[in-house]
Amino acid sequence: MTGQAQISAEIAAIQAEYSRAGLAESQPRLDYPPYRSSVLRHPKNALHLVDPESVELQAPCFGDADMDPLDADLTARHSGDPIGERTVVTGRILDGDGRPVRRQLVEIWQANASGRYIHQGDRHPAPLDPHFTGAGRCLTDDDGFYRFTTIKPGPYPWRNHHNAWRPAHIHFSLFGSDFTQRMITQMYFPGDPLLALDPIYQSIPDPRARDRLVAAYDHELSIPEWATGYRWDIVLTGPATTPFEEPR
Ligand SMILES: [Fe+2]
Repeated sequence: MTGQAQISAEIAAIQAEYSRAGLAESQPRLDYPPYRSSVLRHPKNALHLVDPESVELQAPCFGDADMDPLDADLTARHSGDPIGERTVVTGRILDGDGRPVRRQLVEIWQANASGRYIHQGDRHPAPLDPHFTGAGRCLTDDDGFYRFTTIKPGPYPWRNHHNAWRPAHIHFSLFGSDFTQRMITQMYFPGDPLLALDPIYQSIPDPRARDRLVAAYDHELSIPEWATGYRWDIVLTGPATTPFEEPR
């Protein structure tokens, strides 16, 4: 096999592994009219194939030296305590065979307890918290675990339709072992009545797949007098794949 043919074969194999084919019911519809902006914004062309190795030569990479342990504690980044329900969110990143995905960069971002982001585009009349920025990161450990201490985010209005409110959620980015593997998704909290009304959550046809975006309250994780605990595992491939936001 020539070098170019070998690269093409590798790309085809990667594409097959991460294809949405067969996952149509468990991944979000990209063009879903109830989620208004998806109608104009969804990808309309096939993925552009690139040689992953050539991309990696110019892509950023992260390791232990880039991390500060405080990066994973969103409640400890300022001079005072943020307002809201302190909570621990932890879980494992797993591949389709249940193997831990080790030393992976996991990034999160979220609204504060009032449902407000520190972002110039967020003008809804809820207070910013001077002690909460809403962004964190960590690397998974050797068993594939990530762990964050944060504040439970509030729901926020988003003008998709009349009286539209996003359920409380935390955005997750998984960097992968290579830049081309980056995946984006959202974690929700159990029992949220807004889930049934949320077009983004409802854009996933299979209710079992939707459920995989909802963390479980875990009393063993709750820390007495300090924080509640939620557990949420993320599966990258296979029949139990976590729904992700973009085509892979
Ligand atoms: Fe959000």
